[in-house]
Amino acid sequence: MKGIVLAGGTGTRLHPLTHAVSKQMLPVYNKPMIYYPLSVLMLGGIRDILVISSPSQIGLFRTLLGDGSSLGISLDYAEQPQANGIAEAFLIGAEHIGDDPVALVLGDNIFHGPGFSTMLHDEVKNIDGCVLFGYPVKDPERYGVGETDQRGHLVSLEEKPARPRSNLAITGLYLYDNDVVEIARGVRPSARGELEITDVNRAYLDQGRARLVDLGRGFAWLDTGTHDSLLQAGQFVQVLEQRQGVRIACLEEIAFRMGFIDSAACYALGSRLAKSEYGAYLMAIAGADH
Ligand code: TTP
Repeated sequence: MKGIVLAGGTGTRLHPLTHAVSKQMLPVYNKPMIYYPLSVLMLGGIRDILVISSPSQIGLFRTLLGDGSSLGISLDYAEQPQANGIAEAFLIGAEHIGDDPVALVLGDNIFHGPGFSTMLHDEVKNIDGCVLFGYPVKDPERYGVGETDQRGHLVSLEEKPARPRSNLAITGLYLYDNDVVEIARGVRPSARGELEITDVNRAYLDQGRARLVDLGRGFAWLDTGTHDSLLQAGQFVQVLEQRQGVRIACLEEIAFRMGFIDSAACYALGSRLAKSEYGAYLMAIAGADH
């Protein structure tokens, strides 16, 4: 399966922070925001990933992440000239996707919870149609909302409904079979002028080939779109990391634990950042025998 991180957009709700710098480059506690969604794809075992951002920012992401080889993955980059909608990712990324299924993650979404990697692996392996991930929220009327039958098949999808049929918000992680490219090509701009991901999902729903996985109440799905939610996400990461002594979305650690790189490579990555706690952590998990 191929992966796409969509990290464009205008970030208007975060102005003036995002006047000069992409939202997905801003810090969430101790690492750039894009580390979090990128870690999700890596946890799913996805190693061939396209990063999409605006023309003015794409070079910064390339500087930050490189070609991925140090993490045992392949990273490529593409521009989205304007924020024409999330579904445009499949048009920009069509060549990258080729004949494969694809996972799309939004560059400003943070996921954290037990069993996530195993769950992702299972879903990635068995993809037929599309798989969405729902998160129970107290204010579903602010989100795209999905309703399932008892087997987890999606039976309705509503955008910011006044009277939601469920409390499951559709999160920014989507798995699709290869049909998604053709489906996205058929989507027309909405009233707000965007190629809507909801229209893509609705096409799968109409075919009876959409599933919605409930991430459950023990899970964290965090938003970073406003000043308050950005700060809260950083505090969430800080509390967990300091309490447990582990790191969330540490790409080098994930690459090591997934077997993409060996312990010597992990140690070497840490030693390059040795003056930061981040580097010291990497050297420690790589083991003392280096
Ligand atoms: P949004 O939060 O909908 O938009 P935004 O990031 O531009 O922020 P604001 O509402 O404050 O203006 O986007 C969700 C994610 O999708 C975010 O990571 C940006 C990304 N995105 C794109 O990369 N291209 C697009 O065309 C759109 C609509 C979003």
